[in-house]
Amino acid sequence: MNFFEQLVIPPTAENMPLLNIVQIVSFAVFYPFLGMLIGGSFLSLYFNYLGNKRNNLIYNMFAKDVIMKLTVSKNAGYVMIILPVISIAIVFSRFLYSSDVISISLFFVSAVIYLIAVIYIYKYRTGFHISSVLQSYKSLLPEEKIPGEAKEFESKTLNEKQKYGKLGLILTLVASFLFTGSITIAGNVREWQDFPTILSVIFSGKVWLNFLDLLIFAFAITGASILFFFFVWQGGIKSGDEKYKGFVTKFSASLTIISVLILPVFLFIGFILLPRQAYSSGVFIFSGLAFFCLLVAGNFAYAVLKNSEIKFSSGVFFSVLLAVIFIVVKNQFAFDNSVKVHTVAVNQRAEENLKKTLPTTTKIAEISGEDIYNGRCAACHKFDAKLVGPPYKETLPKYNGDLKKLAAYIYNPTKINPEYPPMPNQGLKMAEAEAVAKFLLEKYQK
Ligand code: HEC
Repeated sequence: MNFFEQLVIPPTAENMPLLNIVQIVSFAVFYPFLGMLIGGSFLSLYFNYLGNKRNNLIYNMFAKDVIMKLTVSKNAGYVMIILPVISIAIVFSRFLYSSDVISISLFFVSAVIYLIAVIYIYKYRTGFHISSVLQSYKSLLPEEKIPGEAKEFESKTLNEKQKYGKLGLILTLVASFLFTGSITIAGNVREWQDFPTILSVIFSGKVWLNFLDLLIFAFAITGASILFFFFVWQGGIKSGDEKYKGFVTKFSASLTIISVLILPVFLFIGFILLPRQAYSSGVFIFSGLAFFCLLVAGNFAYAVLKNSEIKFSSGVFFSVLLAVIFIVVKNQFAFDNSVKVHTVAVNQRAEENLKKTLPTTTKIAEISGEDIYNGRCAACHKFDAKLVGPPYKETLPKYNGDLKKLAAYIYNPTKINPEYPPMPNQGLKMAEAEAVAKFLLEKYQK
């Protein structure tokens, strides 16, 4: 982890709002596109297989269109997947600065796997282009005049295309699992130490639950974006085949409705499983807004399915997108709340680093408990109210004026109250710890 520590600088308190916003924007770009990539490549591979097996041209056509349209354009994968993942990984490393949590290395591992996955999926996509060029070439010649070489080349490209597609999808899923794992762990400070290796991540029920949630979400956005990219975007598909359009409409609307109905269940379970300190009014409000948008999306999709009202396609797409944005904001609120103890400590470190770089004109001759208190403790503690840590008036009586005992705790804090996350070690010298302890006890007695 030392390597990353040198790479990232700890954020100061003023940095925090900006970091939260960067994180929200990155996730809001990343999740929808990731969902389209997973859903698009899965459906394309599946319908390609089904089309060849049943000799169904509609399925084959859909297999090609769905990957072409849902991966948008050649560079979209890099801009919408790789860039946000790297940005998310860097911001997370700043949030989690100096904690030994496995998340940070997992983020970077998943970024590398995503990169390979995106390359493969786009090779799969290009395979369809090559196939259609070969098809039109073949249609120019009578069957017996097609050279053997051309046939060989065709079956080779077809094989490779399938191989790239499958590998790309599998790697995307692996990367997404690791990514989900690191987010799950990062948001749960109490469990940072419980996940020492990748193996413990693989066996975590919570990580699997969040991963499943991601897959269902992938199908919701896939259904919605098929409706949008097939029928609205740039005028929609030009071919006049009504049977094909009918199939696509029915399939994607049903897919959206089913996933949009399952998602709230996961939203709810995820909500219950949040660590206690993660809840805040923001978390409640944005969960509610997301839930509402999913309902609206379901209704639009139902209108598309029942009355073939294609005009509601954009409605489906944008309400699912809005739901994603609300979920992302909610997650960021929850994350920010639950790592607060850690970030406040990191902010202090950052401010100290800043001070160190300024020239010091006056040397402090004596250790002042009050100064240390104001500089190190006041961000998390008040005497009579709960801040990040418990109020002193609740915890100090326990020490009964025992200065040595209190100083020992401040010098090396241990886990005490299950209602709070553990207090981060403040890195004080024993003499400093004693000075603060003395100051606290004196102030408390007054
Ligand atoms: C980043 C936030 C943070 C900072 C900074 C911080 N604390 Fe704490 N403190 C906590 C939390 C959280 C707890 C509750 C820990 C627990 O119950 O396990 C706590 C608990 C305590 C307790 C009660 C321990 C007990 O026996 O219940 C004392 C005393 C205390 N802190 C003193 C200090 C002093 C002195 C400083 C400054 C040198 C300081 N804290 C700085 C977060 C902080």
